[in-house]
Amino acid sequence: MNGPRASQTVLLLHAPKQPYQVSEDYATPRIDNGSELLVRTQVIGLNPIDWKAPDFGFGIPVLPYIAGRELVGQVVRTSGSTTRFQEGDQVIVISTDYRDPRKAAFQEYVVASDFNVVRLPPTVNPHAGASLGVAFVAAALSLGVCMGLSFQNIADGPDLLKLVRKLDRNLLSEDIQSDCFDALDITQRAGPGDWIAIWGGSSTTASIASQLARLAGLHVLLIANQAKHGMRLAKDSALRPDLLVDSHDQERAVDIIQGSLGGKLRFGLDTQGRDSAEALGRSMRAREAVIGSIPTPPRTPTTTHLVGLAALPNVPAAGGLIYHRVPIKLFHEVPQVGSAITLWLETLLEKSLIALPDVLAVEEGFSGVNRGLDRMRRGEISGGRAVVDCLGAYIIAMAETLSSPSPYIFGRDHKSSIRLNYQHTLIKTLCNGQLLHPAVHQNIASCSSIRVADVATGTALWLIELSDLLPKHSQLHGFDISSDQYPLKEWLPKNVSLHEHDAFKPFAPEFLGSFDVVNLRFFITLLNEENIRPLLGNLKTLLKPGGFLQWLDFDPRSARAITIRPGLHMPRTESVVSIMREAQPDVDSWLRHHSDLFEAAGLHPIADERVKLRNHLRPIWNHCHIMGMEELSRHMSRNTEGGSDMPSPLLQQIKDLEAEFAQGTSIDAEWFMMIGQTQQ
Ligand SMILES: NC(=O)c1ccc[n+]([C@@H]2O[C@H](COP(=O)([O-])OP(=O)(O)OC[C@H]3O[C@@H](n4cnc5c(N)ncnc54)[C@H](OP(=O)(O)O)[C@@H]3O)[C@@H](O)[C@H]2O)c1
Repeated sequence: MNGPRASQTVLLLHAPKQPYQVSEDYATPRIDNGSELLVRTQVIGLNPIDWKAPDFGFGIPVLPYIAGRELVGQVVRTSGSTTRFQEGDQVIVISTDYRDPRKAAFQEYVVASDFNVVRLPPTVNPHAGASLGVAFVAAALSLGVCMGLSFQNIADGPDLLKLVRKLDRNLLSEDIQSDCFDALDITQRAGPGDWIAIWGGSSTTASIASQLARLAGLHVLLIANQAKHGMRLAKDSALRPDLLVDSHDQERAVDIIQGSLGGKLRFGLDTQGRDSAEALGRSMRAREAVIGSIPTPPRTPTTTHLVGLAALPNVPAAGGLIYHRVPIKLFHEVPQVGSAITLWLETLLEKSLIALPDVLAVEEGFSGVNRGLDRMRRGEISGGRAVVDCLGAYIIAMAETLSSPSPYIFGRDHKSSIRLNYQHTLIKTLCNGQLLHPAVHQNIASCSSIRVADVATGTALWLIELSDLLPKHSQLHGFDISSDQYPLKEWLPKNVSLHEHDAFKPFAPEFLGSFDVVNLRFFITLLNEENIRPLLGNLKTLLKPGGFLQWLDFDPRSARAITIRPGLHMPRTESVVSIMREAQPDVDSWLRHHSDLFEAAGLHPIADERVKLRNHLRPIWNHCHIMGMEELSRHMSRNTEGGSDMPSPLLQQIKDLEAEFAQGTSIDAEWFMMIGQTQQ
């Protein structure tokens, strides 16, 4: 495995109310003690705090600040022999310690205490794995410490209240001592048969708290927007509450809770805000009335407990109601608590005992964090999570640094040739079997010999097929920077010759001004604003007066994830689309003006057409993507020191993509065909 680099990419917040800025060459954080690990970020899970902190100016201890509270990544360094992790392990990191920038998720390398790390079981998709950690910790501490619910009957989970109460009070930060030691009388802790009401029932924390509470034997009442979430919650047996109350009319919801549960409601969790926390407090008043009005047996609990995750009510607590803030610090400040929670979560994941959050959006690369957070700001992420996949960007960055001088990101082995030939067949079918555009064909049809150059010819299949269609005295020449995929010379048609040549470099004098047609295909991944003009200029030198440049290529701006099943979740397909759209961030600035570029190179545009994918060809196009990703992976592993260092999550991604394609997703796409002619 490659060791960590000395410098890394991070996202910096320079001031409140600003987007995070990508910053390269930032020092890689160091591990300080034997229980710390260094983890390379693969998928970042986004939390509401990541946008609320900069927008409302809280929870930012220092500027510039590195944020980000959870991720999935690969352990790249361990410090002590005591840790249960090894380099190469794929893990979930839960970073509640927002004061330590080394532990923040918005960076390439993250330091984590091993008691805040969970091994990612192979059955858990990294996107889902990156979305549940903070919510799980908040739910476990709210239920387990503030309400005193023991998890011992759920896969031997911890009794957090007992564990905490055995600690030396002075070991804990002062601000959480009271919540941990005084706020709940241990005889009044929550247990099987009790009811809990959770307001903000669509949140990830609510979903996990609800599942844990039900597994522990509690009855759950969820208050949520029923129009938005009712069907989803009703359909999934893991998420279905004992009672669902619509949150639309707050007072009506309070009435329903009081009317349904009377004085039975002793535990409340609010995940929404001050207003709903107050409403939840009012709903719990019925208990007060019951305790006050009728004679009750001696051990009847007299206190009710409301945990406010986002805020506490403004009105003072009264009549036995006690407010709690979740003592989240326990997780990162007390190793016994951190380990108890992470080991238990690992077991729950391994045994598939909890339903994972739905991943509703996948953004790509560190710059995708701002896009994901903007979607959260706009309220688009509801009933699930947004994640940022950094692996795709990592693949491209790796591939680019591996191949020099030009960043050809694919391989050149026989499988690569199969992909190129397969892609050729797809495009030919899309172009109604025509190798030359009708405008070109018409112009050269009457000639008895035609000279054609195919640039970046690859396996030369286009040229070979064309040789059958042209008059027999025609001359066809193929050029490519590598001859690795060329057929043997002996097997080429007599009038086809292949040469090794870099299309960005001047062609040999014997070729200049000698061709009727120059063909260029599948070249766009190598182009940018700087090299497109010199390339066109160079290709033009090959043409005779009145000769044609025919350029067919994929338009990355047209990539779009589509599915035949509305509502189908397709994070991997979306992620590949983001990679395609973002691999060349400047593409729009020059491709939009491609006819101007032709003019500037002295090529008069005579056709500019779009070629759209048709449904019956989608399976072939899907195969092209799978083959392309496999090729990229093989290429990377061959070029990585030590040989077979292909990150296993990459293989997983390819499998996930295949599975999504099989369910009816695809990547919509358009190609463009540009024809330019030199002056007669
Ligand atoms: N104190 C702690 O240590 C701690 C720990 C964890 C979480 N929290 C807090 O607990 C709350 C829930 O966290 P979570 O991660 O479980 O949340 P989440 O999964 O992101 O869900 C939050 C819910 O809020 C609503 N929502 C989404 N975008 C919104 C927007 N722009 N404005 C208003 N509402 C929006 C959505 O519900 P609807 O569409 O149904 O309205 C969404 O389902 C957050 O306030 C979080 O900061 C605190």
